Amino acid sequence: MKVVITGAAGQIAYSLIPFLCEKGIFNSNEKLDLNLVEIPQAMGRLDGFVKELEDSAYSTVSSISTFDNIENAVVDADWCLLVGSIPRGIVLNGKEIKERSDLLQINGGIFTEQGKAIGAHAKEHCKILVVGNPANTNALIGYKSAGKATQLWMAMTMLDALRAKAQLSQKLGCHVDDIYRLAIFGNHSPTMFPDLENTIVAGKKAYQEIDDHDWVENDFLPKIQQRGAEIIKARGASSASSAARAACDTVKAVEHPTRSGDVFNAAVMSDGAYGMPKGIFSGFPLISDGKGSVEIVRDYSLSDFAKKGLEKTANELVEERDLVKDLI
Ligand code: NAD
Ligand code: LMR
Repeated sequence: MKVVITGAAGQIAYSLIPFLCEKGIFNSNEKLDLNLVEIPQAMGRLDGFVKELEDSAYSTVSSISTFDNIENAVVDADWCLLVGSIPRGIVLNGKEIKERSDLLQINGGIFTEQGKAIGAHAKEHCKILVVGNPANTNALIGYKSAGKATQLWMAMTMLDALRAKAQLSQKLGCHVDDIYRLAIFGNHSPTMFPDLENTIVAGKKAYQEIDDHDWVENDFLPKIQQRGAEIIKARGASSASSAARAACDTVKAVEHPTRSGDVFNAAVMSDGAYGMPKGIFSGFPLISDGKGSVEIVRDYSLSDFAKKGLEKTANELVEERDLVKDLI
């Protein structure tokens, strides 16, 4: 099982790689060959981390290799976790990068090169999770550059789903594991639409249990939509431990069958489901059969309020796609 992780000397990877090395994440019992990728300037830092991973003596791991180029790293890869890219909050040309979409000019190009390499050298059924922001549009760039329909490209919205579950469990005083069918639609951005109207909590409809649309619209939605910014403000750096948890959970969700009656969340290429335009990467509720097939769950009913939310996030994704038309 060859697993490629880019940005391997960064904050997220420092938590993500140990999570991935725990038992039970991957369906197969094959040992992991970890291919860790960084830019040349960060190879020294990566070597230090590799020493720590060696010292952890994971029984799940067969080999750890480092690469300063993507081409060699992705040969025969089963999974590529594309974390490597720049987070927002940095100052570029005297201007602070405030929104994830402002990162497109800096990060977009990374995904052209990585997509081409994955399409040419990774396994036919390789699964790819884009974490680097703006994740949806970077995934679109990678997917188009790879040009291999058999490979499964996803962008991460699992963190938004975990955040939404945490807030809902606090509101209803339930355990996060009792929450089913919570879906994140659209972009991993302030326009995302976390849907509670189809969510089930301990067998009951969450919306009726909450019985407070004002809380949903004016507390819950902005909280989830702005949680990344809230963390950057408080921590002085973007979320890392929770992002790593979410990336690992996404791998696990694809590798194992989805529990009965539930969904998991990631953004995939839209085929027009729920009126999201074709040809953008949108968050959808998904199920996995644990054997490589991931499908959009299509039985959610959307109120006018939800439909308006989906339209807003769809428009933003189309605008982002137009901004990178030269790359796709
Ligand atoms: P970081 O700056 O700590 O680490 C990023 C690493 O990527 C650095 O070590 C850098 O050298 C490396 N890198 C840059 N370009 C690369 C390339 N072309 N190939 C390989 N490595 C490269 O950042 P981080 O906190 O780990 O965040 C990484 C990305 O994840 C950011 O874009 C951030 O915004 C994003 N993120 C996404 C989510 C999500 O939910 N989708 C959540 C949190 C963070
Ligand atoms: C997050 O949601 O925490 C990440 O996308 C980082 C960010 O820029 O907000």
